[in-house]
Amino acid sequence: MKLLFATNNTHKIAEAARILQTAAPDLVLVTLAEAGLDVDPPENEPTFEGNALSKARALFALTGLPTVADDSGIEVTTLGGRPGVHSKRFSPEATDEANNRLLVALLDGADDRSARYRCAVALVSADGELVTDGSCTGSITDSPRGAGGFGYDPHFLPDDAPGRTMAELTADEKHAISHRGRAFRALAERLRARS
Ligand code: IMP
Repeated sequence: MKLLFATNNTHKIAEAARILQTAAPDLVLVTLAEAGLDVDPPENEPTFEGNALSKARALFALTGLPTVADDSGIEVTTLGGRPGVHSKRFSPEATDEANNRLLVALLDGADDRSARYRCAVALVSADGELVTDGSCTGSITDSPRGAGGFGYDPHFLPDDAPGRTMAELTADEKHAISHRGRAFRALAERLRARS
C-alpha cells in the first residue's frame, strides 16, 4: 500500500522509509514533494497524538490518499516535560544547534537529566483513523557526540545503548530502539492485524 507522508522533514522521511522497508515492505511512503504538494501540514495541537492526526487529516482531506504523519519531540523531566510538542522551535532561532544550546544551558547544574523521546504516528484513510505511539528513555549529556541522526541526538544518551549518544549509533541501531522505530512498527502491526 502507498502512504502519503505528511512531512517536509527529510530526516523523518529517511528514517521512516528505512524502518518500514524492514518492518513492512508492502508499505511504501510517498513524500509531499513526490506528490507535487507544496504544503506545510498544520500542527497546532497540545499533544503529539493530536498533531499527528491533524497533519494526516489535512493531507487526506486535500488528496484523498491514505496519509500517514509523525509528530515527535523530546520531554525533559526537570523542565516539566518541555520542550515536548515545541521541540522543533524550542529556541528563537529554531535550529538544531540553538535548540541544543538552550537545552544544555537550562540543564546546567541539574541533578536529574532524564528525558524521553516521543513519537505519535497517525494514519488517516477511507478505512478510518489509527494512531500509534513510541517512546525512548534516556538522559541529556552536556557535550555533543556523534554525527548520525538529527535534532537532539548528539546530546541524547538512550538507556538502551549505554555509553553512546543516539548520534553515535548506526541508523539501524537507532531505529531498533527509537521512539520513531517503535511507533512505525506498531502501525505496521496494527495494519497487519486489521487485514
Ligand atoms: P515536529 O516536526 O513538530 O514533529 O518536531 C520534531 C522535532 O522534535 C524535531 O525538529 C527535533 O527537534 C525533535 N525530534 C523528533 N524526533 C527526533 C529524533 O529522532 N532525534 C532528535 N530529535 C528529534
